[in-house]
Amino acid sequence: MSQEPPCSSASSGFELIELNDPLAVAEHVAALLLNERRRRPELPLGLATGRTMEPIYQALARQLGQLPFAEGERLRERWLSFNLDDYVGLAAGDPRSFRAAMIERLVLPLGLDPERVRLPDGAAPDPDAEASRYGRELEAAGGVGLQVLGLGLNGHVGFNEPPCEAHVQCRCVSLSASTRAANAPAFGGNPEAVPARAITLGLAEILAARSILLVVTGAAKAGVLRWILQGPPTPELPASWLHRHPRVMVVADRAALGRGDNG
Ligand code: GLP
Repeated sequence: MSQEPPCSSASSGFELIELNDPLAVAEHVAALLLNERRRRPELPLGLATGRTMEPIYQALARQLGQLPFAEGERLRERWLSFNLDDYVGLAAGDPRSFRAAMIERLVLPLGLDPERVRLPDGAAPDPDAEASRYGRELEAAGGVGLQVLGLGLNGHVGFNEPPCEAHVQCRCVSLSASTRAANAPAFGGNPEAVPARAITLGLAEILAARSILLVVTGAAKAGVLRWILQGPPTPELPASWLHRHPRVMVVADRAALGRGDNG
């Protein structure tokens, strides 16, 4: 579907795919996700939320809709995904929760059973117990097959804020001021309205995925992405721990790679 083949290279052990813009990234990543569901249906996908992911889920719905009916139905029926994270303290059904975002952007457009799109329950009365339970649920499902990650401006993945060690597991965390500011648009632009805590899978569960796809778009991420591609791993940039994983693909647009002419 894309007119030109993506430019691919290895960078510090990462396979790097460079594409023109966020829409080309979305089509490419959506195709990889569908392939993963075909190739390794027994293991759940690991999914993320955030603005980077929005065009990916749109492309996924379109590509799934173009499959022969029986194949599309098979993929829907066998769907299983675990999201990285959700805010703590929003009421169940709050439209600003990541659960609500996944229902709107993935469950409804793809026609999935919501029970097969798993997220931690940020409205649980005991968030620490819920984090442990969610980690155990993922483990019982066999761990993640392909983990898709967005990248925070401060180098976070999931809600693993710096400083963060590679061994941390699913847990309750405090969000940094910069992350609350970055996510404020969904909360009327007010960082104080962004919940202060979240449940997130840890680097331990992320690095246990069989393969990892780090998706980065936009010039605002160019600086942090450059640090991460260069390595070495450091707690100050949680995504840099991905260098410890043997199968990481980075899919980025030209702007995120600092090419500068695509905004
Ligand atoms: C958020 C989420 C991450 C997401 C990242 C980037 O806070 N916890 O899962 O991937 O930060 O978000 P965006 O794509 O909106 O830049």
